[in-house]
Amino acid sequence: MSTGCLRGEGLPAPTVISIDGPVAAGKTAVGRLLSRRLGYRLIDTGSMYRAVAWLALERRIDPSDEDALKRLAELTPVDITQRDGREVVIIAGEDVSDRLRTPEVEQVVSLVARVPGVRKALVEQQRRIAAGGRIVMVGRDIGTVVLPDAGLKLFLLASPGERARRRYLELEQSGQQVNQQKVLDDLLARDKLDSERADSPLRPAEDALKLDTDDLSLERVVARILALIRED
Ligand code: DC
Repeated sequence: MSTGCLRGEGLPAPTVISIDGPVAAGKTAVGRLLSRRLGYRLIDTGSMYRAVAWLALERRIDPSDEDALKRLAELTPVDITQRDGREVVIIAGEDVSDRLRTPEVEQVVSLVARVPGVRKALVEQQRRIAAGGRIVMVGRDIGTVVLPDAGLKLFLLASPGERARRRYLELEQSGQQVNQQKVLDDLLARDKLDSERADSPLRPAEDALKLDTDDLSLERVVARILALIRED
């Protein structure tokens, strides 16, 4: 783990934790386990961008039509709730939880996420959700833009090869036919769009702890974060 613990000794555990990082660095898995261990709520903001992308596809909105995407995001809030221990994502009255990881959504989501009007609408919702505290929020710009005052900021890293391997297994397990090289190419293309966009590009906050997960199991990553929290 890299330098710079953010919290002084004797402070209570942070009630707002941000986790950012590139595609398939383990953010959601780590966030889910960490939030369970702490009894906090998990919000995966990627699923909010995916939900808007899904709705844009449903309504046949051109992913280059920024005004239409902005209006869509402003008029249709994304609701994330817990049901039977899993996160349920609802947009325009539909439970889309199982429809957000298709190749069609993956193809357009980074285009949708780079539209400033879409980001503004979703960031407002994310800040409202986080205002209640006891939350782990996962995304790309949580530590830098959405919650700059988060008590603990994590930035997860892993090599492209390892991230492609994880993503490949995930897609295979969900029954999708995939080609390993294509998974790597798509992942790098999305990273590029996410890192090079003008509004809120993917980057670690200055006070984020960088954690390389290449050689660590999920359990070990979470154990390290919990040790860090409890150290104080
Ligand atoms: O984490 P993910 O793969 O589910 O994210 C889907 C897309 O949304 C990805 O291209 C990056 C974008 N995103 C973003 O721009 N800001 C966030 N806070 C979360 C995700």
